[in-house]
Amino acid sequence: RRVAVLVSGRGSNLGALIAAAAVADYPAEIALVLSNVPEAGGLVLARDHGIAAEVIDHRPFGRDRAAHEAAIDARLHEARIGFVCLAGYMRRLTPLLVDRWAGRMINIHPSLLPSFPGLDTHARALAAGVKIHGCTVHEVTAGVDEGPILGQAAIAVRPDDDAHSLAARVLEQEHRLYPAVLRRALEEGGERPQAEPLLSF
Ligand code: GRF
Repeated sequence: RRVAVLVSGRGSNLGALIAAAAVADYPAEIALVLSNVPEAGGLVLARDHGIAAEVIDHRPFGRDRAAHEAAIDARLHEARIGFVCLAGYMRRLTPLLVDRWAGRMINIHPSLLPSFPGLDTHARALAAGVKIHGCTVHEVTAGVDEGPILGQAAIAVRPDDDAHSLAARVLEQEHRLYPAVLRRALEEGGERPQAEPLLSF
């Protein structure tokens, strides 16, 4: 299946998906990378791997989020994309993209949802004193970080962790989890994948 990845930043999860898709029996081809941020490292990474990588900057659209999303949607269709992965894509989506890609768009979030949706998840997890933290891949729906959970990976919080060290260990798990969940989502077609959790302590 032709998969597009939407990024806004460095693209390390994109890198994990590209690496997974390079293996012969993986069911996805990373066919297109789109970024709303011209400087996103993910664009460079994609081009280094020979993947089409394009900027659809949100700024010229001003407050018209739907028009920006319509431009994204048009590119996805032109490129014959069948499934979309958000990987550090930092724009809240409107129903335009969410509805058109329902069941075919997933996101990775750096917390064990439904705990800590939104930003600064690692600092907030530390402040809350949780002992288990991790990441979640979920279907994208209208509510931010709210769609059905497809897979999670958990790590133990260490007494000496700061937000930086915690982020680094969660990110390692993100890079394992995202390709695993994408594979399952594509292989099981429209059905909700029954994820066995990935646990790492
Ligand atoms: C990741 O922590 C991801 O979970 C979150 O944004 C970050 C993106 O990192 N949504 P990268 O661009 O994939 O390196």
